[in-house]
Amino acid sequence: MDTPIGVFDSGIGGLTVVKELARCLPNEDIIYFGDTARVPYGTKSPATIIRFSIENVLFLLKFRVKLVVIACNTSSSHALPVLKRDFKIPIVGVINPGAREAARISKSGRVGVIGTNATIQSGSYNCEIKKINPAIKVYSGACPLFVSLVEEGWLNDDVTYTIAGKYLKSLKEKKVDTLILGCTHYPLLKGVIKDIMGDGVTLVDSAKRVTAHVKDVLIQKDLLSENKKKGECRFYVSDEPARFAKIGERFLGQKIRFVKKAGEYV
Ligand code: DGL
Repeated sequence: MDTPIGVFDSGIGGLTVVKELARCLPNEDIIYFGDTARVPYGTKSPATIIRFSIENVLFLLKFRVKLVVIACNTSSSHALPVLKRDFKIPIVGVINPGAREAARISKSGRVGVIGTNATIQSGSYNCEIKKINPAIKVYSGACPLFVSLVEEGWLNDDVTYTIAGKYLKSLKEKKVDTLILGCTHYPLLKGVIKDIMGDGVTLVDSAKRVTAHVKDVLIQKDLLSENKKKGECRFYVSDEPARFAKIGERFLGQKIRFVKKAGEYV
C-alpha cells in the first residue's frame, strides 16, 4: 500500500500522465523513469520497444513499486502483453482507457487516432475500439513531427499550424467526431489540434483516462495509499537530468525538484 506507483515513458511526454496522477491521487508517491537516452521509441522496431520496456520495469522494481503505469502509447501498444505476462505486479497501459473513452463519447461512430509511427502501425487503438464496439470506424494517422515540435516548445507557432494542418487533413475529411491523442506529447498541442479539427470534434487525452483506471485497479487490489500527507514525485532519467527538468516543467505544469540520472542501468 505504501510503496510508490512506478511510471515510465520513453522520455518526457509521460509527465502529462504524472500530472494527472498527482492531481487525482495526491497521497501516492510516484517514481518516474524517462528513458531520455533512447527516446524516441516511436521510430523503433517492436522487438526493441519491448526490450527497452522490460528494462524500464526492472528499474522501477528496484523501488518496490506496487503498480506500473506505461505512460507511453508506443510502449503500451507493443509491450503491454509481454510485461503483463512477465511481471507479477499490476501493469497499466494507456491504450485501453483512451479507446474506451472514445467509444463512449463518439456519436457518429467515426473515431480518429493520431500517434507515433510505431503506435499507428501496431493498430492497437483500432483493435481495442473494435473489441468494445465493432461498428465504430477508426481512422488513423501518424504525426511523428509533433514530438519534436513539443520538445522545442513550439506549441502555438505558425510552423506547428502548418504541419498539423497537413497531418490532420485526411482525418478532417473523414469527418471524425472524436480524436484520440495517442501520444503523450500531443496533449500539449491541444490548442492547435482543436483549432484545426474544429469545435465539432472532441479530443480524448489518454493521460486523463488512464488515471481513473489506475485508481480503480488500486482500489480493487487494496493497494490505495493510506498516507495522509501529500505524495512525493521522484524522477529518474537515462540521460542529462538538467534538460529533462527544464523541458519537463512544461509537461508537469510545476517545478521538477528531484531528478537524477538512473545510474549505469542502461
Ligand atoms: N512517449 C511516446 C508515445 O507516447 C512519444 C515519444 C516517442 O516516440 O518515444 O508514443
